[in-house]
Amino acid sequence: MNSRRGVSVRSAISTTSSFAERMEALRKLRKADLETLQLPEIGRGSFGTVYEIPGTEWCLKKALTSPQTMFPEFINGMRISAKVNNKAWGIILQSGEFPNILMPRVPEYLGTHGMEDHESTTRWFEENGHRFPVENGGQKSGSVMCLERIMPLQQVIRESLIQLYFKPEKQAEALADEKNKACLCRVYLGSTSEEIEPEKRERECMTLQNFPLYLDQLEELNMDPFLIARDMALDLAAGHWAAGFDMLDVEYVIGSRPRVQARPSPSSISLKADEKDVAEKSFQRMRNVGANDNDHQTSFRNRAFQVWMIDFNKVSRINTTVGKNYGRNIQKLVCNTRATDGPYYPRAIARNENEWNLWLEFARTYIRASKTILLDIIESAEELGAKITANSRERLLKRPSLFINGWVEAEAVERNTTGKEFRKKLKESKWELP
Ligand SMILES: Nc1ncnc2c1ncn2[C@@H]1O[C@H](COP(=O)(O)OP(=O)(O)O)[C@@H](O)[C@H]1O
Ligand SMILES: [Mg+2]
Repeated sequence: MNSRRGVSVRSAISTTSSFAERMEALRKLRKADLETLQLPEIGRGSFGTVYEIPGTEWCLKKALTSPQTMFPEFINGMRISAKVNNKAWGIILQSGEFPNILMPRVPEYLGTHGMEDHESTTRWFEENGHRFPVENGGQKSGSVMCLERIMPLQQVIRESLIQLYFKPEKQAEALADEKNKACLCRVYLGSTSEEIEPEKRERECMTLQNFPLYLDQLEELNMDPFLIARDMALDLAAGHWAAGFDMLDVEYVIGSRPRVQARPSPSSISLKADEKDVAEKSFQRMRNVGANDNDHQTSFRNRAFQVWMIDFNKVSRINTTVGKNYGRNIQKLVCNTRATDGPYYPRAIARNENEWNLWLEFARTYIRASKTILLDIIESAEELGAKITANSRERLLKRPSLFINGWVEAEAVERNTTGKEFRKKLKESKWELP
């Protein structure tokens, strides 16, 4: 490893982020200035484009297609964010079983414009369309939703990424490109960068918006893949059992942790053209305050980066009954959960001991967190008078480990082996047994 490659994100802690300064400065803007507010593009997906609302912790996602595609994301996202950020986090924290945990988050979903009928989109756009960039159809009217913004990674991390992974001749331009300030990284624990086709890698290394980080790179950057695996497991457990969704096609990204805890109230966002369309729902402004700041590892991570689960337009409710389709429902959950657009989760059928330990961390955290959440839900139901037989209770609590076993079997089939053969390999290699 050449010495330049030892760049550690630890230095991010002490670096003053120009972004944080800009946010602070913008917060101080007088109301009159907000009338000239522009909305720069910060991300693009397959059906939506995301725009920054400068000076706030919110962003806008605009549908490139019909409102029908965005509406499910909004409705599901609202439920998932409330259940993951508030309910599951509360249960996990109170259980005391996860000391120094930093719960991964889901953006809060605030409100929508123009999902109800086409006319209101047009009306809203007549007043606000000019705020969007002209490029990439920014000023074309479409339904819009307002959600919590994932803050970009700090300058020191952005510079390291460019220096480490961009072609030398592209680096100067990339360092100067304003667009690269909106840097979020996807986290792919299930693959290494060498496994990616060179042309695909080259395309990926053109912009820091949505930059992929594979397992070897996370190690190289000192971003602790084991902590990320734990975060993903917690998010998934919360999404399954506290929110009740299968998490089909969700994505995991890392951004920085917001430094400024207080947020502007929704009403201070300047998009007032159609106030009745701005959701009034006031979410509990709950933050991850559970981590112990004296612990070095946690406090570093606390300030440097945060794992987020995003993109809920394909998720659906899971069947949580323990009736006769119990086994089939678990198989379906395994299949839907694993259907992601990228190798986010660790490999269950590991090729080396490091990959195997990473999977164990993920699987064990998932099972433990899921059981903690399920137990709390069972107890609450019982407190309300529900009668849950000992048998049902046992079957309910067994679901997380059956899910993980099902996952291993499904992945074994994909990789032309069987769970049995893989377990034999585990024993022979003397890797830790589950
Ligand atoms: N809440 C957010 N804050 C900041 N950037 C975001 C946020 N949500 C999405 N993005 C960025 O925009 C990109 C597209 O968003 P995504 O939700 O994946 O859209 P799509 O549903 O079209 O796939 C993401 O990959 C990410 O880089
Ligand atoms: Mg997407």
